[in-house]
Amino acid sequence: MCGIVAYIGNRPCHRLLIEGLKRLEYRGYDSAGIALLEPDGSGKGRIDVRKTIGRVAALTEVAKDKASSGSTLGIAHTRWATHGGVTDVNAHPHVDDTGTICLIHNGIIENYDVLKKYLIEHGRKFHTETDSEVLANLIAHLYEGDLERAVQSALREVTGAYSIAVMCVDEPDTLVCARKGSPLIVGIGSGEYIVASDGSAIVAHTAQAMTLEDYTVVRLSRDGFRTSTLDNVELTPKVMQLELELDEIELGSYEHYMLKEIYEQPDALRTCMRGRLDKNEGRVVLGGLKSFEQELVRSRRIIIAAQGTALHAGMIGEYLFEDLAKIPVEVEYASELRYRNPIIEERTVAIAVSQSGETADTLAALHEARDRGALTLGVVNVVGSTISRDTHAGVYLRVGPEIGVASTKAFTGQVAVLTMLSLWLARRRFMSTPAVQRIIEEFERIPDQIDATLKLDEQIKDITAKYIERENWLFLGRGYNYPTAMEGALKLKEISYIHAEGMPAAEMKHGPIALIDNGMPCVFIATQGAQYEKVVSNIEEVRSRGGHIIAVATEGDERIKSIAEDVIFIPDVAEPLSPLVAVVPLQLMAYHAAVLRGHDVDKPRNLAKSVTVE
Ligand code: AGP
Repeated sequence: MCGIVAYIGNRPCHRLLIEGLKRLEYRGYDSAGIALLEPDGSGKGRIDVRKTIGRVAALTEVAKDKASSGSTLGIAHTRWATHGGVTDVNAHPHVDDTGTICLIHNGIIENYDVLKKYLIEHGRKFHTETDSEVLANLIAHLYEGDLERAVQSALREVTGAYSIAVMCVDEPDTLVCARKGSPLIVGIGSGEYIVASDGSAIVAHTAQAMTLEDYTVVRLSRDGFRTSTLDNVELTPKVMQLELELDEIELGSYEHYMLKEIYEQPDALRTCMRGRLDKNEGRVVLGGLKSFEQELVRSRRIIIAAQGTALHAGMIGEYLFEDLAKIPVEVEYASELRYRNPIIEERTVAIAVSQSGETADTLAALHEARDRGALTLGVVNVVGSTISRDTHAGVYLRVGPEIGVASTKAFTGQVAVLTMLSLWLARRRFMSTPAVQRIIEEFERIPDQIDATLKLDEQIKDITAKYIERENWLFLGRGYNYPTAMEGALKLKEISYIHAEGMPAAEMKHGPIALIDNGMPCVFIATQGAQYEKVVSNIEEVRSRGGHIIAVATEGDERIKSIAEDVIFIPDVAEPLSPLVAVVPLQLMAYHAAVLRGHDVDKPRNLAKSVTVE
């Protein structure tokens, strides 16, 4: 997906827009652009566009002649390409062929080809391969002197997902924005508005923001705003307090956001758990579930839908709910669930797990389950995000903004929340108070145990360096740590570009063992647990074929040390909680592999922080 930032007010906005793009660059970074509307003295304006492939730094260079502009109305965009290659001309902002309308867009116009054909038949000219340029020309085609109405009319013709900000040379005091299926919020300042994809580009200027529902259009001017539907029915917007603090999104002394967020995990989990674990009473307190307590206690099945790292957290949730709350669970790729005509019988709970709360497939799967009668819960990090607003209830991660594209503290936050959710349910179904108290006692030790594991960073870096040239790795685990192995493989893939596969350790014998050649790095999560002996056998099977064993083991385990090339000892953790600690060495391994291979850790190629398109 892309990053959008726009401004209308009384301050020159060039610098504000560039700074805003820097905060949003983690959302997409193929190319970037900015457009300023400068009054021409005749009551109209002139639009000046600068855009280029590459990062925001490249745009700053290309647009430096506009740095002294007095323009107080502008839009800016950082792109993750969906339609059309990564080229200067395909970068946003886009202007219609008459130069009247200028827009930036995040999302996909699914019927852009039909619209483009119609517009070409009506004389419109096109210069790019993008769907966004079609929208700019459609708005221009329907413009009859009222930008707000033209945007409403155009969006009524559109199918797909969009968050847009639009300017018009004939209306130098108007900025129109709208959203459907892609995130957009409007910061409310004093005599100024900042429109952005998320709060990180707004929080430096105001803490007041409007969250927009789908199909909402907002007309902004220097003395006020109006929100409406696509049919021009007036709406009352929801205003929220942005909870972000600037220092939360600053890099601080770290070289990369990913490393900062790996090291933030102990404190992030302390915040995530704060006020929610009552050890004395043996209770978990989750205020967001209050209104649905009875329905949840009587539920008969849980479906967990997510993508990527969030899916791996959901897979751990499956073990937790079945182990602790004795309730059947199925975990699904949201992208599959939404299209496979799922059977959702009564008393089913659907849980959407998502850091951003904007992942298109997860949102669609949630809507599918909700429309079929499921009670829906969100396990989400971004407050006020679409998934958090579209579920009946939910539990926020409270781990703070996650900027690094590779998800780390959000993963442990998702696992921690799913652990609390399963304890919350277990206590109301079969689990005794003492049993809950014992788990809470273990749970409260986790942040310190992660702290202790982080102290192994140098050793983990040295181990990683030994295998940095190997292009194929295996990650293997059993039980609770099978999903942890999947997560370790994803981390390595997505930032070091090394091919890695995660799987149940037993599955390796059913084919993948053929991959093992001399010296192939095979990462085993071999901590103490129910299937420890089986994992040891799997390690022996790999060793006998020349694989090199990198083991994550329980401190003091000399047996693993004797059969592995490298061992990373972590504290002794109760098995249901062990992924929270076992994942940390895998996160650091991936981080060091990426750095040693010279890659951009926070903005890996082809990736974006949240995939808000299908
Ligand atoms: C994780 O490192 C990836 N960036 C990606 O798999 C991510 O977890 C996935 O896209 C889901 O995102 P979400 O949690 O915001 O829904």
